Amino acid sequence: MAKVITIANNKGGVGKTMQAYQLSTYLANEGNKVLVIDLDSQANISSTLGASVRRTLIPEWLIGDIDFEDVVVPAEGEHDFYKNMSVIPSSRHLANLAKLLILSESEVRKNAGRKERLLKLRLEAIKEEFDYIVIDTPPMLGDELIMALVASNKILIPTQAQDYSIDGLEELMDTFEIIKESENPGLDFNIIPSMVNMRRKIEKQRMEELAQSFNVSAPVRNLVDMQESISLKKPVFMMGKNSKGKMDYENLWKSLGLV
Ligand SMILES: Nc1ncnc2c1ncn2[C@@H]1O[C@H](COP(=O)(O)OP(=O)(O)OP(=O)(O)O)[C@@H](O)[C@H]1O
Ligand SMILES: [Mg+2]
Repeated sequence: MAKVITIANNKGGVGKTMQAYQLSTYLANEGNKVLVIDLDSQANISSTLGASVRRTLIPEWLIGDIDFEDVVVPAEGEHDFYKNMSVIPSSRHLANLAKLLILSESEVRKNAGRKERLLKLRLEAIKEEFDYIVIDTPPMLGDELIMALVASNKILIPTQAQDYSIDGLEELMDTFEIIKESENPGLDFNIIPSMVNMRRKIEKQRMEELAQSFNVSAPVRNLVDMQESISLKKPVFMMGKNSKGKMDYENLWKSLGLV
């Protein structure tokens, strides 16, 4: 039965897709069957995993017009671990989801009760086929993110140590609490300090403040080799043992009990 992990933060550019990419490729390389679901219409992780499509069918899949087999594609790349990865790719057409949900309202109600449960319902049918399902989400608190929270076991929340980032967290935490109380009592979360520069005193101070209110994990530093990792399509686990990126991510996942 697959464990479902969502990477979320309604703030943009905080390292969500980076986390989703590094974690999913690492897990696949360990021999796990991994499904990556791209719920962001920017389709960044779809293209990094060689799974771009002209038009995503996620809206049609969610409302039940098409099957899983029609929405999933293999990840493509030159390394061995890709054979363990499947992707439900996104494209800018994911924006049609809101419209389609309104048009299919009565059907959705009959099938899932509420639209928030649609992704969970679809995943229940395929959970046996995978060890992990990793979901990348867009930087806004919309239907996609809420559906992902309802369908997940765990959310990882990359957060930058800056004032605006931390303010934005409250909105996400409120939503998390509502979903936990109503739809998904087992949901848990970890806040991950992301792109941290510990030499900056103000960042260190913000992180300490954050740790007073929340469950904060080990940080991922701001590192040049992380940007290279994406452009060369070379996950951190393939980097040398002196790679700081490899160190930070593996340390983080171990401390979270994910690996
Ligand atoms: N640890 C890091 N060190 C340096 N650069 C990083 C790190 N993590 C991510 N980046 C870079 O920061 C940028 C934003 O990262 P990413 O795309 O993962 O954020 P995101 O939260 O998914 O953004 P969006 O909200 O737009 O989807 C990218 O250019 C990425 O390569
Ligand atoms: Mg992203």
